[in-house]
Amino acid sequence: MEYHRGEMVYEYIWVLIIVAIVTGFSAAMAYYGFIRNLNPSCEAYTIEEAKARGIDLTPGVREVGPGIYEVTIKAAQFVFIPMEIKLKDPVRVTFRVYSRDVIHGIHVVGTSINVMVFPGYVAEFVWEPPKNAKGNYLFICHEYCGVGHHLMRGTLLIERSSLLLDGGDFSGVR
Ligand code: CUA
Repeated sequence: MEYHRGEMVYEYIWVLIIVAIVTGFSAAMAYYGFIRNLNPSCEAYTIEEAKARGIDLTPGVREVGPGIYEVTIKAAQFVFIPMEIKLKDPVRVTFRVYSRDVIHGIHVVGTSINVMVFPGYVAEFVWEPPKNAKGNYLFICHEYCGVGHHLMRGTLLIERSSLLLDGGDFSGVR
């Protein structure tokens, strides 16, 4: 088939449109990944490996230093253990979320925390809450895990001893 000049123009227009779309999507991914830090970097290892490394997977909140917390959450059909997490003046929080039954997810609404949790695995990530993060944050399971999926929720409470907030963006995403 022979191309005529007029037809080639359309080819180039389509090439430009495709390049623009791909560039747009890539830029959006880079923006949300690197600048908005939408998905915190997450390390995954098996529950057996955690035991071998001596990591205590007892669900709960431990303050290991001033403002330094370790939070262990067990995700199971259809509950998060613990359902209530209270942090006072948190600076750095290491989360370990694990599941033994099916795939779950955890998203703390209004923050950058959003990870999947695979059965038999621990998802570990570090969160440095923005200085203006304060009050109650809802966390939910965001992977359909069965009939009680919608019941899987909990509350993250951040208490601040100082009321001197920097008053900036309250999205909690950094
Ligand atoms: Cu757990 Cu949905």
